[in-house]
Amino acid sequence: MQMTRRSFCAGLAALPLSRPAIAQGFPTLTAQEATVQLAPDGYPATRVWSYEGTIPGPVLRAPQGGRLERRLVNRLPVPTSIHWHGIRIDNAMDGVPGLTQDPVPPEGTFDYAFDLPDAGTYWYHAHTNSMEQVARGLSGALVVEEKTPPAVDRDEVLMIHDWLLDPETGQFVDSFQNAMTLSHAGRIGNLQGVNGRYDVTLEARQNERLRLRLINGANARIFALRLEGLTGWTLALDGMPLEAAEPITETLVLAPAQRIDLFVDVTAAQGENAGLLFAPGDDSWQVLAEINVTGQASRASRGTPAPLPRNPGTEVPDVAGVRVLDMPLQGGAMRGIERGRFRGQEMDWQGLIENGQFWTLAGQAGRGDAPFASLSLGETARIRMANDTVFPHAMHLHGMHFRTVAPDGGFGPLRDTVLVMPGDTVEIAFVADNPGKWLLHCHMLGHAASGMTSWIEVT
Ligand code: C2O
Ligand code: CU
Repeated sequence: MQMTRRSFCAGLAALPLSRPAIAQGFPTLTAQEATVQLAPDGYPATRVWSYEGTIPGPVLRAPQGGRLERRLVNRLPVPTSIHWHGIRIDNAMDGVPGLTQDPVPPEGTFDYAFDLPDAGTYWYHAHTNSMEQVARGLSGALVVEEKTPPAVDRDEVLMIHDWLLDPETGQFVDSFQNAMTLSHAGRIGNLQGVNGRYDVTLEARQNERLRLRLINGANARIFALRLEGLTGWTLALDGMPLEAAEPITETLVLAPAQRIDLFVDVTAAQGENAGLLFAPGDDSWQVLAEINVTGQASRASRGTPAPLPRNPGTEVPDVAGVRVLDMPLQGGAMRGIERGRFRGQEMDWQGLIENGQFWTLAGQAGRGDAPFASLSLGETARIRMANDTVFPHAMHLHGMHFRTVAPDGGFGPLRDTVLVMPGDTVEIAFVADNPGKWLLHCHMLGHAASGMTSWIEVT
């Protein structure tokens, strides 16, 4: 296969242009401006919003059953907060301004401290004006390590980004409020990168087994991914182990905020192509991350890996007799709005659009004062999401993982973010075992900002 580097400018033409002293305490995680070379060499560096001056922020690693403690120090010119995506977390630490905490003002701090019940691949990102703050760089990986580390030769985080940069200036295109973007697919970038770099290259030897932790940190892009010179298995989705390692036979689809843990064996010999490819949408496959095969490990291939140990309290829920709550996904451009009725009632789209809202969840644009559902602790919930728009949506529940329920009653794997394609209906079920106020929203962050944000309460 011809391995071509993706081009940076492709597609841009179509896009609209437009200190206080710190008290003793936790290790800090400072949100700050920085200058980083996101674009290929030769292009200008980019002024970003970062954690600790790097893109992505530092990989935070902690053992399962341990605690994570970080003091967010806000050196940005805007208020911010951190959401620890996928962690079954203490609600007060969930990072949602106006729901679980006040936003942290410039020069302010907030102490995050919480237990880590589940091993797996998670991530953290800004959750105040996240549409803009994540697009400017505020995210990083959070790895919770299994008690007994699985047998791999290397453990690599690959955090995938989709930046929207002006190639002339190298700066982020400042179109965050663009109605066209918000009401269509969201902020789709023109430069895909991994771990903050355009040309990330990892090293490995033939026959080595790598654990690749893929995280889609993009604002809106759904990544179609393929391996080259590698063969392997999917071990976990959204942090949660699968019952058995699943051989990778086809394209992997990673919606915004989703993660996949892969175990891959390097089959390529020294000098042969190896890496992670993605489809930009024009039938080509381009290199997203390259693996430079530097030699040969003596070890022969080890066969199918054992599954990762199951996380606690993740049994399949009993949904028999549980009422199904309907959450239609409505609105958006290309006739979605015209079509959007809720329970037979016309929606006042004109009024919503004047307020910058283009989408609704269960007939409601934005979070509102009342929860979509009030659940009692321990109750099983079923939510049916019918996508009555012409765009895909990556629906994310905070605080708890769920399973999809197929029409025949079968359950999907545990996830915290599920892709709902246009015209499709996806039912999720979960046990409401984490008390608090939890968002349920689209992780295409422009959609979340323009109506697709709801919440549930567990008491
Ligand atoms: Cu990763 Cu409410 O989001
Ligand atoms: Cu959406």
